[in-house]
Amino acid sequence: MDGIPVRVACLYVAELTSEQRAAYDWCAETAARADRISLDVVADSAVDLAAYDAVWWHRDRPLDGADVRAAGEPLSAYVENGGGLLLSLRALAAVDQLGIDPVAPDATGVDDITGRAGMLRRSLHDDHPAFETFEGRRFFTRAPDREQAFARYERVVPDSGDVLACSVRGDADLVGHRTLVEWTPGAGQVIGAGSALGFRDPGDYEDAMRHEQFVRNLLATLSSSRTRGVTGRPATTEGFTQLREYLADDHHRPAYHLSPPANWLNDPNGLIQYDGEYHVFYQYNPSGPFHGSIHWGHAVSEDLVHWRDEPVALAPTPGGPDHDGCWSGCAVVDDDGTPTLLYTGGEGHVQLPCLATSDDDLQSWTKHHDNPIIEEAPTDIDILSTDDWEAEFRDHCVWRDDGYWYQLIGSGVTEVGGTALLYRGETLREWEYVGPLLTGDDGHGTVWECPELLDFGEKQLLHVSNYDEVRYFLGEADLSAPEFTTDYEGKLDYGAFYAPQSLSTDDGRELTFGWLPEARGMEAQWEAGWSGLMSLPRELDIGDDGRLRQRPAAELATLRERHAESRELGLPTDAHRRLDLEGAAELQLSVDVSPGGTFELGVCESPALSERTAIRYDGESVVVDRSHSSQDPAADPGEQRMPVDGDGQVDLHVFVDGSVIEIFANEHRCLTSRVYPTRADATGASIRALGGPVDVDVEGWELDSVWPAGR
Ligand code: FRU
Repeated sequence: MDGIPVRVACLYVAELTSEQRAAYDWCAETAARADRISLDVVADSAVDLAAYDAVWWHRDRPLDGADVRAAGEPLSAYVENGGGLLLSLRALAAVDQLGIDPVAPDATGVDDITGRAGMLRRSLHDDHPAFETFEGRRFFTRAPDREQAFARYERVVPDSGDVLACSVRGDADLVGHRTLVEWTPGAGQVIGAGSALGFRDPGDYEDAMRHEQFVRNLLATLSSSRTRGVTGRPATTEGFTQLREYLADDHHRPAYHLSPPANWLNDPNGLIQYDGEYHVFYQYNPSGPFHGSIHWGHAVSEDLVHWRDEPVALAPTPGGPDHDGCWSGCAVVDDDGTPTLLYTGGEGHVQLPCLATSDDDLQSWTKHHDNPIIEEAPTDIDILSTDDWEAEFRDHCVWRDDGYWYQLIGSGVTEVGGTALLYRGETLREWEYVGPLLTGDDGHGTVWECPELLDFGEKQLLHVSNYDEVRYFLGEADLSAPEFTTDYEGKLDYGAFYAPQSLSTDDGRELTFGWLPEARGMEAQWEAGWSGLMSLPRELDIGDDGRLRQRPAAELATLRERHAESRELGLPTDAHRRLDLEGAAELQLSVDVSPGGTFELGVCESPALSERTAIRYDGESVVVDRSHSSQDPAADPGEQRMPVDGDGQVDLHVFVDGSVIEIFANEHRCLTSRVYPTRADATGASIRALGGPVDVDVEGWELDSVWPAGR
């Protein structure tokens, strides 16, 4: 292997172990210079670190007792000034002591690995020089049947570090084992490589050579001052734009829906109009496109359609009641004007309500010193306990009524069903349990997540997410009984739409956003580097018929860039017309089918129609047929169906955007679909009449993107 023109300071504490000796011997052969330097010498500033291109601390022994804090300052200064620091194996666990990150890896030890061990690279970092010469998403650097000292992030993630790769062990992807992490403080760079490396007994396997190549890459990377790649943890608007630009070629990314800058998004949280701006927080994992270590992401808009990314708003506190995640919750303004979040903290098998406040216009949040604010789930009913949670007890909807604060928390009653528990408080910090507002029957699910009560004057609407779907109950809420009397019941959406929450606007509207999960496998999500997005804001209210009305928020009309279609057509049986419409689009269709006839709208159509998604209306239902949506055999998530009233007539309002299709029928029912055509030119649309003539009025617009980066 070629040498590298890098001068390396090889650190140790007290004595060198045989693993360290083997590593640093290899370094002496490979690098231009390799000096062994005790951390005490660094702590005493008795060495000029600036004489080195990289500093490497490789440690297989536990850190126990090794107080390296004093070396933190000189090392930080070296890095801030442009130096590169490599912390391998258990040295990664010293990041907090060294002042690199307040959150240290929570898992250290020695694994006995039977399969090959290696890394699962994140697609965001495909171009990172650490991976130069390593092909494929998975690569192996450690032979089987070896002991392996490690340090990694399992339940927690670094506060500011970027996870470059997770672990693979044999055939298994261990996405929750985050072992390769990068920090870029000041002008320098720190890389932590917590596992799958061993110099003492590499084995005679080809992987033995790969670990040398890998460390060689890391040292070379750390010594160079080349422009940095993309970070998945931006702190500035430019950083977010760069990140979005990195993903912008992905034609499955939406242009006008609110999406995460990268990584993972689930439920909308803390929706609030504050000081004229709309804030959407969301369940977010900054360490990759999977659910874990949940933070709150944040996006802001002045007009409800154009969004700006903001840095993470809430992160789990190691050792706190939200150690394992800051789960869903809401935002309200306290009686004294303080913006306040109520959210669910998870720790081990316990989940309880927590509170945080902001004194800088929702930019940063201080957690209440006495979290959790409710100590336990109610004990007078048999709250469901599961393998995951001692009590299923989470998610918050908070409002003010008649001099009190009220709160709903989602839960389940053992062998009965999901329930929405009502609390009342004089302040946001002290709550008394009132009772279940409503508990589900058979078929309503075992747990109700994200309950929300919306007040429409004489009527109220309660919706709950029961793992499968979002059920709503329209009727009257009696908060003192407590009791909910249901007039109508239904589903908020017949497709991929979950855990919605509503934003009450200053002009009195309830605008509901839901999480649109992916309808494709984990592998495809990992490859894409992002997962999940928000629905369009839907205005919910009660129509003249006393039924729920759902319409796209009026502001969306400002996105109409080109009025591409405006036609009234009588389509004879089997007629097929292409629409003059490409890509991100909005369609309004008034359809009248003859008995036995079916209207079909084709969207996401490739030029030769090998890929297309058919939306059909046969007089009774709207069906989304995804059997030809994608030529990728892994992407056939099946058919979706939504019954509609109307005797052969329907008004459809359809939004197409990357991999998302949102359909509103008769301003009443909604169906959201996800499709993944392989072709980037699967952007066309057409209409057909099948089995009988169809009259249709079509209005169509091409819509603008809402992000400076395009997607
Ligand atoms: C709903 C949900 C909530 C929970 C959050 C965790 O999708 O499971 O109940 O608070 O997501 O991310």
